[in-house]
Amino acid sequence: MTSTLLHISSSPRGTASESLRIADAFLDAYRDVHPDAQMHTWDLWDGSLPEFGPDAAAAKMAVFGGADPEGAAAEAWRAALGAFDRFDAFDRVLFSVPMWNGGVPYILKQFIDVISQPGAVFGVDPQAGYRHLLAGRGKKAAVVYTSAVWGPGLGPEFGRDFQSTYFTDWLHWTGIEDVAEIHFHPTLTGDWDETRNEAVNAAKDLGKRF
Ligand SMILES: Cc1cc2nc3c(=O)[nH]c(=O)nc-3n(C[C@H](O)[C@H](O)[C@H](O)COP(=O)(O)O)c2cc1C
Repeated sequence: MTSTLLHISSSPRGTASESLRIADAFLDAYRDVHPDAQMHTWDLWDGSLPEFGPDAAAAKMAVFGGADPEGAAAEAWRAALGAFDRFDAFDRVLFSVPMWNGGVPYILKQFIDVISQPGAVFGVDPQAGYRHLLAGRGKKAAVVYTSAVWGPGLGPEFGRDFQSTYFTDWLHWTGIEDVAEIHFHPTLTGDWDETRNEAVNAAKDLGKRF
C-alpha cells in the first residue's frame, strides 16, 4: 500500500533550523524505504493557515450548540474545516516542533485551534467525556522536539517542558495513539554536535521504520 506522509513544520528558521534538519533526515530515510510515497510539507509559516478569531469562535460555539454558522462565521468555519481536511488527507504525519517559551510556537497552537473541531477531531458525551474521532484509522505521528536551554534532568531554573507534554497529549486526544518522538535538547553546556548526530541518527532509524 502506498503511504502518504505530511511534514508539518513549525520553525520559521529555514536553513538555520535544527528541527528541520532532523526532520529532513527522517524524510530522506522514509523516502528511501517508500520511493512511491506521496510526501508533502506544510510550512505553517507560509500564510496558508487560517486565523481562528471572533468569526471562527462564533462558528465553533454555534456548531457545538447544534446550529449552523451563518455569514462571516460560516466562511471562517469552512476555512477551519479545509485546514482539517488538508491534515486529515494523510495517514502519516511528521511534526517538527521547537520549544518556544516552554511551550510550542504560537503558529502550531494556531494550527491546533484551527483543526480541533467538533465532528472532525472530537465529539463530547456529557457523561462519558471526549470521543477521539481520529482513533482506529491507522494514523501515525512522529514528532521532532528541540530546545536549547531546557533539557531533561535539568532543574526548573532552566525552564519546564510544556512542549512535548502538551503536544503529544493533544495528538493522543485526537485519537492518534501511535506517536513516536525524536528529541534534541543539547542544553547550554552540552556537546551540540554529538547530541545533534544522535538525534539525526534516531530520525533516520525512525524514518526507515515509520
Ligand atoms: C521565540 C523563541 C523562544 C524560545 N524559547 C525557548 C525556551 O523556552 N526554552 C528553550 O530551551 N529554548 C528556547 N528557544 C530555543 C529553541 O527551542 C531552540 O533553539 C530550538 O532548537 C529551535 O528550533 P529550530 O532551530 O528548528 O527553530 C527559543 C527560541 C525561540 C526563537
